[in-house]
Order: sequence, then structure tokens, then C-alpha cells
Amino acid sequence: MASIELKGVTKHFGETVVIPGLDLEIQDGEFMVFVGPSGCGKSTMLRMIAGLETMTSGRIFIGGEDVSDKGPSERGAAMVFQSYALYPHMTVEENMGFGLRMMGTSKAETAMLVQSTAERLQLTSLLKRYPKQLSGGQRQRVAIGRAIVRRPKVFLFDEPLSNLDASLRVQMRIELAKLHADLKTTMIYVTHDQTEAMTLGNRIAVFNQGRIEQVGSPMDLYRKPANTFVAQFLGSPKINLLPYSVDDLQDRIQFDTQCSLTSEQLGLPLELLKQGKKLGVRPEAISLCAKNQSNLQGVIEFTEQLGDATIVYVRLPWQQEMLIAKLSQQQIEFKMGDQVGLLMDSAQMIVLNHHDQRIDVR
Ligand SMILES: Nc1ncnc2c1ncn2[C@@H]1O[C@H](COP(=O)(O)OP(=O)(O)O)[C@@H](O)[C@H]1O
Ligand SMILES: [Mg+2]
Repeated sequence: MASIELKGVTKHFGETVVIPGLDLEIQDGEFMVFVGPSGCGKSTMLRMIAGLETMTSGRIFIGGEDVSDKGPSERGAAMVFQSYALYPHMTVEENMGFGLRMMGTSKAETAMLVQSTAERLQLTSLLKRYPKQLSGGQRQRVAIGRAIVRRPKVFLFDEPLSNLDASLRVQMRIELAKLHADLKTTMIYVTHDQTEAMTLGNRIAVFNQGRIEQVGSPMDLYRKPANTFVAQFLGSPKINLLPYSVDDLQDRIQFDTQCSLTSEQLGLPLELLKQGKKLGVRPEAISLCAKNQSNLQGVIEFTEQLGDATIVYVRLPWQQEMLIAKLSQQQIEFKMGDQVGLLMDSAQMIVLNHHDQRIDVR
């Protein structure tokens, strides 16, 4: 087990700056998730930690030791790839034991370690098979087994579940969380999937164009995103953004010439609203009421039944983006085309300024 420290890491590919400069400390035993849109530099950063890619500048420490000039096999890190990268001509058993044998582990000890790891991952009955005789989920499990069996100081996962179908992905996600609880080994997990990030991470680092926008626990980032990018990246459906201006004379905030609310109606202090430009409201923080019960009104464009919840898309007369509400229970009867009132829970609202930074509410 080991901490990981990234100090001033940069990466250029020729003229292209992929990582302009990154600092991060990952605690011993932590499950850290790197999340961000495709192409933002997550894999490049992970590969530099693994030693599979050179840095342009900066230092990387694993367990307090500077490993910047060390090769991949000397860093004590095991990586699991999206593509599984199993050796096709080797059985599951041979695939899992290969790294150990290369490290000079005896045949007997390798066999024992492979056996116990296979039991933990329910691979025992598959040990004699070749990769082509396995399903995608089984292959991924073997790839994880091959990483675990070497008992590395840190695990590096690069989108390991992306090639699996939805239900298997959920199952493997739970297994990975259990594995971490069990092994307590430091893990870095790269994904573009916000659900995986929210459910797996002790902490999440949100990447955007090679920079970290924010690092924190999933719920901290969800409730107190530093900026619009983080607010929009986490959460599904996406957070609603409502641009507004403040009418100084009447102390009202104005969404449109036809629609304004007092700070009291909104439940947020005017001083705060005056510093902002946009409200951010999570879909689950919105509820519907009869149209005469709110100054904020719209027309229901369509609805989606999820079984346990209903997603309602509401057309606001003044903005192109529809407002999305996620209702767990229905307060009123409604159907498509109805005009409804909208209520927003101020406790779950954020205020963003003209630099797209969140301003603290309380
Ligand atoms: N070997 C390479 N040569 C040139 N550009 C690269 C190379 N590898 C990655 N890149 C570029 O670096 C950026 C980040 O890529 P990557 O780290 O794979 O992003 P992510 O994993 O977040 O999707 C992309 O713009 C990609 O095109
Ligand atoms: Mg990638």
C-alpha cells in the first residue's frame, strides 16, 4: 500500500499540451477517481503514473519514493486496461501467473497465489480456458485477477468496464468497490462515466483539458461544485442553469421581462444573488405545482417514466434549454401540454457568477 503524489506534472505531445501542469496527493488506501470528458488527458496521466508514458516535466512519488525515472515494473503499480490485454495463447491460469513468474516467484508460490486469487474472483472453474473461450465480463475479471495476484502497492484502472453491457457494468462496479474495501490498496480509477465516479470514489478529481477543476468527495462535488463545468459534469439528468439579472430598483431577480421572483420567493439572500449571473438547480430539487401557485411557470413538453421517478421536460417561454425536473412522487396530476408552476428548493440551489464560479450561499 502506498500514497501517490504528483508534483508539477506536465505532458506535451510535440506542440500539443495535454497536461499543462498538475499537482495532486492521493492518500494511502484511497479510491481516487479521475473523471472527465473524452480526450481531457486522463489516460495520459494514468500512463505516466504507471511509467508507460514519459513526463515532459514534474515528479511522481509512490509511497514517498520518487519513481519518476523508474520503469513500469519497478513502480509497484498494476494497471488494468479497457481492452483487457490478455495473452491469447495463454490460459487464464498462465495469464494470471505470468507477471509473478517474470518477477521470479517460484512455481509453487505462483500456483498458490493464482489459486487464491481465482477463488476470490470466482475464476476457479475457468483457469484452464483460453481468453477466446471467455465472455467479456470473464475476461475483465481475469485482467483484474492478473493485477491483484501480484499484490501491487497501487492499482491503476483505465475505463475497465467500458466494454461491458450495462447490467454487467453495475455488477462489476459493486465487485470493484468490495475489492477495494477488502484489499484497502490505493486505487486510481479513470472513467468518463459520472455514475461510476460518484459510486466508486472516496474522492473524485474532475478533469477538463488536462487540468483538475476540483477534487473532493462525491457528495461535496455534487452539492458544492466549484464551477459550472463540475456542476454540469456530475449528475444525471444534468443540473439546470437559469441565467438571470437583478433588478436593483425592485430587489427582484429577473429571468425574463415576463418572469421575476423576489429573493424571498426564491429563498436566497439578495446580496448573494446580486453577485451571480446564473442559478443552478438540480432536477430533483424542482417540483411541480398548479400554475397560480408559482411565479415561475412553463409548459410540459414531454415526460419519461422511469418507474421509480418521472423526468419532466418543461419549456420556459424565454429560454431555449428546457428545464428538467425529476419527480419521485407526483404532487399534482399533469400531462403533456399542461401549463404548470415550478417550485425550486433553495437548499439545493447554487449561484454561479460571470466567471462560471460558484458563490457560496451560506
Ligand atoms: N501518443 C500521442 N500522441 C499525440 N497525442 C496524443 C497521444 N496520446 C494522446 N494524445 C492526445 O492527448 C489528449 C488526451 O488523450 P487521453 O489521455 O487519451 O484522454 P482521455 O483518456 O481523457 O480520453 C488527446 O487530445 C489525445 O489526442
Ligand atoms: Mg482514456
